[in-house]
Amino acid sequence: MVKRSLWLLSLFLLLPFVLLPFVLPGIGYSQGEIKKAKTVDELIKMFDYSSCIQCHQKEYEEWSKSFHAFPLVGSMRTLASWASTIRLIIDGKTYPYANARRVEDLKVEHLMICAKCHLPQLKYAEDSVAVELAKLVLSAAEGDEKALEKVKQLNINCLICHQEVAIVHKWRDGFVDRSAVYGKTEGFHPDPKYGKLKKSPIIDRAVFCGQCHGLGPNFEFPHPSQCATAYGSYLHAYIPSGGTKTCQDCHMREDNLGHFMPAYRDKRMAKKAVDYSVEVIPYSYLHKPGVYHNKARVVVKMTNKAGHRIPDG
Ligand code: HEC
Ligand code: HEC
Ligand code: HEC
Ligand code: HEC
Ligand code: HEC
Repeated sequence: MVKRSLWLLSLFLLLPFVLLPFVLPGIGYSQGEIKKAKTVDELIKMFDYSSCIQCHQKEYEEWSKSFHAFPLVGSMRTLASWASTIRLIIDGKTYPYANARRVEDLKVEHLMICAKCHLPQLKYAEDSVAVELAKLVLSAAEGDEKALEKVKQLNINCLICHQEVAIVHKWRDGFVDRSAVYGKTEGFHPDPKYGKLKKSPIIDRAVFCGQCHGLGPNFEFPHPSQCATAYGSYLHAYIPSGGTKTCQDCHMREDNLGHFMPAYRDKRMAKKAVDYSVEVIPYSYLHKPGVYHNKARVVVKMTNKAGHRIPDG
């Protein structure tokens, strides 16, 4: 009897430790409740945003023209440089310690040096997805239309911004609730799967965009990469010189740009990028008796009015 109750007691004492891994959220990137995708299609389905379209037509139409809708392709330059990065990793010479000699050797870790910002959800995929994705990218870059269509379905969509990256300080603000959509208010949300609206503490602030728009080199990787640095420039140059606007002010709210979030592809953005003034003072001078040369003094002043260096990178 005594023995039995001791056994029960020890079970009772041990229980919290046995259950702990199941009830406590991870302290890493996410709550860890996402089961990893084994195929590219599973990864696409994991962040299926199709339900959002019917009720948010305006946001959907603007977004589908933005580079966030096809961030592995962009202006086609992105696709080309993803393909050349993959070729370099597996050529066996450029990165002799990368441990990858064929596409089949690639792991998520190899692609994360770009996917960190171009496809952050890749961290929820098994290495088999890295191999499948790398093959698709290489084929698409060589002109395979079907592969290109598939690559374009891997995007920074409504659920990436309104859920996945909606919280930065997770120890304070908590981990992302996968049954909610994050915006600026709290309350009921009529989506059958995402029935709650929660407040993101950062969605209207520059740090929200800064998560992908770069500070400088990404030193956390075994082989650091560097691409976008607009957020670094915003923090270290624009704000210290008195800038007060956020990324959302200039790229979304002004001119009702909304979810299109354009840069110089859009004339309105190009127009507000620089201020310039030209001052011309014409004069002529007597070179030698009887010979006048016409001259002009031209002063061109250019001021960058963007919230960061241009061009970026
Ligand atoms: C059945 C219609 C419906 C669907 C489906 C739907 N929404 Fe909504 N959503 C609404 C309505 C209505 C509101 C306005 C709620 C309010 O402000 O009271 C809203 C509000 C929002 C807001 C604004 C929150 C804020 O206050 O800033 C966001 C963001 C949002 N939805 C994102 C999404 C995303 C992402 C999806 C797809 C996963 C989605 N919605 C699917 C109807 C829908
Ligand atoms: C999850 C990562 C991520 C987040 C969050 C993000 N972006 Fe981007 N953004 C990208 C990537 C990747 C590209 C480049 C795609 C390409 O060109 O291939 C891009 C492109 C852009 C461009 C260039 C568009 C063009 O037409 O040239 C602008 C401007 C931009 N983003 C603004 C923003 C703003 C403003 C926010 C915040 C409201 C934001 N982004 C949030 C990843 C992100
Ligand atoms: C820190 C986040 C981040 C990382 C890491 C990153 N990128 Fe980018 N990249 C962006 C963003 C954001 C943009 C769009 C804004 C811009 O052009 O500054 C962009 C733009 C680009 C562009 C320019 C597209 C154009 O049309 O001008 C190319 C090409 C590119 N990325 C390729 C890559 C490759 C390849 C890797 C990996 C070696 C990589 N990026 C790593 C965030 C990142
Ligand atoms: C790159 C990040 C990003 C993506 C992708 C994105 N949103 Fe947003 N969304 C934002 C930000 C930032 C705001 C807040 C804008 C502000 O503060 O003015 C916002 C605001 C909203 C709002 C509130 C009303 C409004 O338009 O300001 C709705 C609704 C919404 N988004 C729906 C969507 C839907 C639906 C999709 C997918 C088609 C989507 N968003 C994709 C960043 C994003
Ligand atoms: C004061 C307004 C303003 C603010 C604030 C601002 N931008 Fe911009 N941004 C611009 C303008 C204007 C351009 C177009 C530049 C051009 O035409 O060359 C631009 C261009 C860009 C580009 C394209 C750069 C390239 O070379 O491809 C990206 C990406 C971008 N902004 C992202 C951001 C992000 C992220 C933030 C916040 C951290 C931000 N911007 C804050 C005005 C602003």
